[in-house]
Amino acid sequence: MTKTASTVPPAANPSLDAKHLEEAFAIFYSESQKLEAQQTALQDKINQLSTELQKSNQRLAILLNAIPAGVILLENNIVLLHNPAVLQFLPHLSQGQSFELPSEWQASIAPGEYLIGSNEERNSKPQKTVQVIRIDEGIRSYIQIQDITANISLHQQTQRENRLTAMGKMAAGIAHQFRTPLATALLYSSHLCDDEVAPEMGKEFAQRLRKQLLDLEKLSQDMLRFISNRPNKTILTSAKQIIDEAQASIQALFESKAVGLEMHCDVPSTTMLLVEPKSIPNALVAILENALAVSNAKDKVTLCATVETKKLIISIEDQGPGISSTIIDSLFEPFSTTSANGTGLGLSIAKNTIEAHRGTIAVENTKHGAIFSITLPIAQAA
Ligand SMILES: Nc1ncnc2c1ncn2[C@@H]1O[C@H](COP(=O)(O)OP(=O)(O)OP(=O)(O)O)[C@@H](O)[C@H]1O
Ligand SMILES: [Mg+2]
Repeated sequence: MTKTASTVPPAANPSLDAKHLEEAFAIFYSESQKLEAQQTALQDKINQLSTELQKSNQRLAILLNAIPAGVILLENNIVLLHNPAVLQFLPHLSQGQSFELPSEWQASIAPGEYLIGSNEERNSKPQKTVQVIRIDEGIRSYIQIQDITANISLHQQTQRENRLTAMGKMAAGIAHQFRTPLATALLYSSHLCDDEVAPEMGKEFAQRLRKQLLDLEKLSQDMLRFISNRPNKTILTSAKQIIDEAQASIQALFESKAVGLEMHCDVPSTTMLLVEPKSIPNALVAILENALAVSNAKDKVTLCATVETKKLIISIEDQGPGISSTIIDSLFEPFSTTSANGTGLGLSIAKNTIEAHRGTIAVENTKHGAIFSITLPIAQAA
């Protein structure tokens, strides 16, 4: 009987083990070579990205240093960094301090705009208007401060030039408006000089003369209001107060014509506007006067006021015939009138006032009349 080889345990083969080990080492070596190569490539990438980041940081720094606007980066309202331009507005700003706008900066008409410096103090820097934009992103905030004095004066200049052009166009209109009351006033004054006029007639002529002169004075004042530039002494006034003032001025006239004046004022009492006293109520009264003029007894005029995204929106709607197509395109131009007694300055002054307060005015004919829509920027609201 022969013994089979399978029953004999395989004898250890040192040369085979060494070969396996060698192969394993070779694999290990080649894998670690690959890993090393990948690590080097990764390191190169990191180096390249760091250089790029450094370059873009440099570019950003150059850009931040070059732009005329002031830029501040805050973290939890603490100044992290700022560019040099910001120091022209906030000379004492430094890193690490808590950020707030100086209390002496006066809020201007539009939200986010401030008047800095003072015209009143002698030798002080001229007054500037700056715009502050704040963007909050989590704990970080970005503040941009920009001098917009030049933009504003350009805007005012353009507005003024437009008005002067309009004044030029209306020279003939002015002559026409002044001619009749002036001729009448001259007539009355010549009667007054006549020795033969009885004393009681003389008094009558003097009164008529006075009325003509008062009309002329009102006309010239209206024209001056039209040409005036921007609201000067503005004060923080509640939107409600402005609307109440307008209503109080005109309510009696509505009652005397038996025309209803419906007020829907859906405005919080905390809604404040920066306005020149009386100017906005006067503008609203001019629109309400027109609405009353085209209304019949038992008609109603509705004034609605609401607040929408930092704006006060006022609409005034009547049930009259609507704006005549002959006048609608020139409605807000001075001396544009269809009324025999009107001067045609009411709406042009109202538009001027509203735009000087950075607001807008528009008109539309509805099925049953006309609707005027006014927007005004809110200075402060809870
Ligand atoms: N609610 C309205 N419905 C219809 N027409 C209107 C309305 N409001 C204004 N108008 C038209 O616009 C014209 C200009 O109005 P504006 O207030 O500027 O001048 P006026 O009322 O004619 O004169 P005044 O200077 O005395 O106000 C009016 O003559 C009238 O034709
Ligand atoms: Mg009018």
